[in-house]
Amino acid sequence: QGVRDLAGRHVVVSAGGTREAIDPVRFIGNRSSGMQGYALARTAVARGARVTLVSANVALPDPAGAQVVPVGSAEEMRKAVLEAVQDADAVVMAAAVADFRPAGYQGSKIKKTPGAEPEPIALAKNPDILAELAADRPPGQVVVGFAAETDDVLANGREKLARKGCDLLVVNQVGEDLTFGRPDNAAVVLGADGTSTEVPRGAKEALAEVVWDLIAARLPD
Ligand code: C5P
Repeated sequence: QGVRDLAGRHVVVSAGGTREAIDPVRFIGNRSSGMQGYALARTAVARGARVTLVSANVALPDPAGAQVVPVGSAEEMRKAVLEAVQDADAVVMAAAVADFRPAGYQGSKIKKTPGAEPEPIALAKNPDILAELAADRPPGQVVVGFAAETDDVLANGREKLARKGCDLLVVNQVGEDLTFGRPDNAAVVLGADGTSTEVPRGAKEALAEVVWDLIAARLPD
């Protein structure tokens, strides 16, 4: 039994990757496995928190003791997260939310027409859930984002932290096989207060513990 420093707290974690429907059988998705978000949920339960896990398209067992809210698309995730954060002390957006969705959902399966070129798929912007949460949060609520970057990891991370208005941004370098679907991760956690915490490559659970340490230090009494 470790520290129960999140006892009496409600925390919301989003995990997985959203799917944006093109037609009844196809979607635009991403490579997020949900492992980091699930590790965050498990470690928060172990530290005594009440945990709401908003989970998008994850093939992992439900973490014992967490309330799992399954969602599909970014719009569904937005609804579920906004509802769950009402009384939350902290929210961690670990999910890979699609930045864009098909502008027009095709109610019937798109067919290929022999001899004809395919129609392009027009995209529309999805709402930025993290930015919205950070802008509308109740006093004292700690808001944390994740950023997957392939280049200029730190500079892009600082810029994103400021743009989204969150308290902490966990920045990891992604590439084909650096993060997605792996049990381990390496990251730098940037704080709006100018701090920067380097987390060496290790289990996603270990990164999760560091994130909760940094959150716990920012929670009001
Ligand atoms: O802008 P980018 O997608 O890199 O930002 C990543 C962070 O923002 C993650 O924490 C992700 O959960 C969140 N996000 C969001 N809504 C979006 C896109 C990203 O909440 N539409």
